[in-house]
Amino acid sequence: MSRVVYVLNGPNLNLLGKREPHIYGHETLADVEADCRKVGQDLGLEIQFHQSNREYEIIDWIHEAREVASGIVINPAAFTHTSVAILDALHACAFPILEVHISNIHKREPFRHHSYVSSVASGVIAGFGTQGYALALQRLARLIGSVPQA
Ligand code: DQA
Repeated sequence: MSRVVYVLNGPNLNLLGKREPHIYGHETLADVEADCRKVGQDLGLEIQFHQSNREYEIIDWIHEAREVASGIVINPAAFTHTSVAILDALHACAFPILEVHISNIHKREPFRHHSYVSSVASGVIAGFGTQGYALALQRLARLIGSVPQA
């Protein structure tokens, strides 16, 4: 039986591929979703992929995941640096959480260096481009025992 994993994306990531491609690359969010589904299938994961520009919607998906999922991969985008509400929702989850950033937030403006989410994440991937999502799913599959430990 596949394990359910939520892949959550925050504000402006719907513009991926069009928005600041020198920072975020040319792949679209649909490309990322397709990649996550392909990798997820190979890892025995059922992917629930979502994006929203609204904080409450992301919180509602975290609450949903809490009931049905084995883990979360989240790119909270700008909410990374502002949202105690998303942090609190993630604290209510008993499974592994992996944080992804397409860009290397530590190389950018100082306000991007702090993440509220990192304190609850099992791991953080930043600066690996959109490939970071697939890497996070591989790690999550290990953490939840969906693939054998190497
Ligand atoms: C981002 C980095 C954030 O600082 C920014 O607000 C984003 C995207 C990333 O994936 O690199 O929207 O999370």
